[in-house]
Amino acid sequence: MKLIIANWKLNPMTVKEAVRLACAEDYRNAVIAPPFPFLKETGAVLKRAKLGAQNISEEEKGAFTGEVSAFMLRSVGVRYAIIGHSERRARGETDDLISEKVKAALAARLTPVLCVGEPRSVRKRGLPAAKRYVARQLRAALVGVSQSSLINNQFLIAYEPLWAIGTGKPDDPAEVAGMAKFIKEFLKAKSYKLKTRVLYGGSVTPRNAGAFLCAPHIDGALVGGASLSPKQFVKILASASSS
Ligand code: PGA
Repeated sequence: MKLIIANWKLNPMTVKEAVRLACAEDYRNAVIAPPFPFLKETGAVLKRAKLGAQNISEEEKGAFTGEVSAFMLRSVGVRYAIIGHSERRARGETDDLISEKVKAALAARLTPVLCVGEPRSVRKRGLPAAKRYVARQLRAALVGVSQSSLINNQFLIAYEPLWAIGTGKPDDPAEVAGMAKFIKEFLKAKSYKLKTRVLYGGSVTPRNAGAFLCAPHIDGALVGGASLSPKQFVKILASASSS
């Protein structure tokens, strides 16, 4: 089954709106990732969809003001954690930090949704250059991740080319399929025994979702803007169930 993750980012403004949105997007193949303050109440109304977090701390507990740990999130019903989103990398998250967060998620039995993707300047040099860039991000994120921590965990990779996020200019489904295949082969060659699924993210809408979700090797989508409109999100979910 194709998985569709709703990344609400810094939206909506109130818990009331969040609960309303969650009720409208509660389908079996969906993961809903609201802002932290809305997790508990959003989770309480979800009957079919799973709950995701947009970020986690690399720390477990202690004197880390303002941080939220993977264990805390698990205790309020979170099952998925988006890690290394480009909007967080742009705010200073390094490869080392992202790798620590991956380990923290796995330790708390959260499914990591590791985001990777190249900037436009790299993609302009062609798909092989983009693959090298993504391979470096994957290698860095998995430093020190033990095989044993992966065995019973799902692991999701979200391929999100930076230039496609929030721009209304999605990547080409055939190129994304090539990238998704590459990511799976890369992880296999590194002998990570991961149950890896690769999602695509970047300006996914009801118009283009079908083309991505029907393409080989693409196992779902990470949806930002369109997840704030239940009408659009439900259409994307519908193309996921029919592909
Ligand atoms: P978008 O965002 O769908 O608005 O392009 C995707 C994402 O940032 O995960």
